[in-house]
Amino acid sequence: MLLRASSSVLSPLFASPENSSSPPPSLYVRTKGRGASTVSMAAAGEDNSAPAITGVLFEPFKELKKELGLVPISPDQSLARYKYAEECEAVINVQINIEYNVSYIYHAMYAYFDRDNVALKGMAKFFKESSEEEREHAETFMEYQNKRGGRVKLQSIIAPQSEYDHPEKGDALYAMEVALSLEKLNYDKLLNVHRVAVKNDDPQLADYVESYFLAEQVEAIKKIAEYIAQLRRVGKGHGVWHFDRSLLEEEAAAA
Ligand SMILES: [Fe+2]
Ligand SMILES: [Fe+2]
Repeated sequence: MLLRASSSVLSPLFASPENSSSPPPSLYVRTKGRGASTVSMAAAGEDNSAPAITGVLFEPFKELKKELGLVPISPDQSLARYKYAEECEAVINVQINIEYNVSYIYHAMYAYFDRDNVALKGMAKFFKESSEEEREHAETFMEYQNKRGGRVKLQSIIAPQSEYDHPEKGDALYAMEVALSLEKLNYDKLLNVHRVAVKNDDPQLADYVESYFLAEQVEAIKKIAEYIAQLRRVGKGHGVWHFDRSLLEEEAAAA
């Protein structure tokens, strides 16, 4: 805090060296009564009207004046919002919608593989967990939106197809190929969020996408790609039943 001088209180900070014939002037901190909001340093004996401060790099209250005037008063305005561009806010709402759409499609796949006349329990479990994970992603982006002072705006989601059988590939392989395409598409959308963050000079948003989503997305793509490779080896029919069993055991071991 910087100070205006007052003769009310003077306390030495540095004592004069002993045995000095002409000691340098002692330095004093000047305070101004109770609740004083400024402080300065001056040498004893100096004129109070002389400029007080030297070497001060940061004067918080002086710099805060502008920010204090910008604190929102309206109760429907975010107090936390700071350096958060409208374009960033909008792209987060888009990403929430994408995560919900992917979650919805995975949920439809879960319902398909859980049918009594399909009964691939490993596939059903995998897609149910995938659906929950995507919904969690949507919620994580909602939390982030609120953290930055944006407003979550939910949009419509498209009804997914309910049939996943494919005449040549069979249902398991076809569903995994759809899943791989979805994860790659989602990766593209996350990169777009990152691009918007960089464009709007928002390193915190860019870091958030990098830290929490991109690595996980790459892992998901690799995992599903491996499932597709395995399903292509086993063909349709009996091999798929074994694949489904191994998926069930793998998921159980990971839990
Ligand atoms: Fe996701
Ligand atoms: Fe995903």
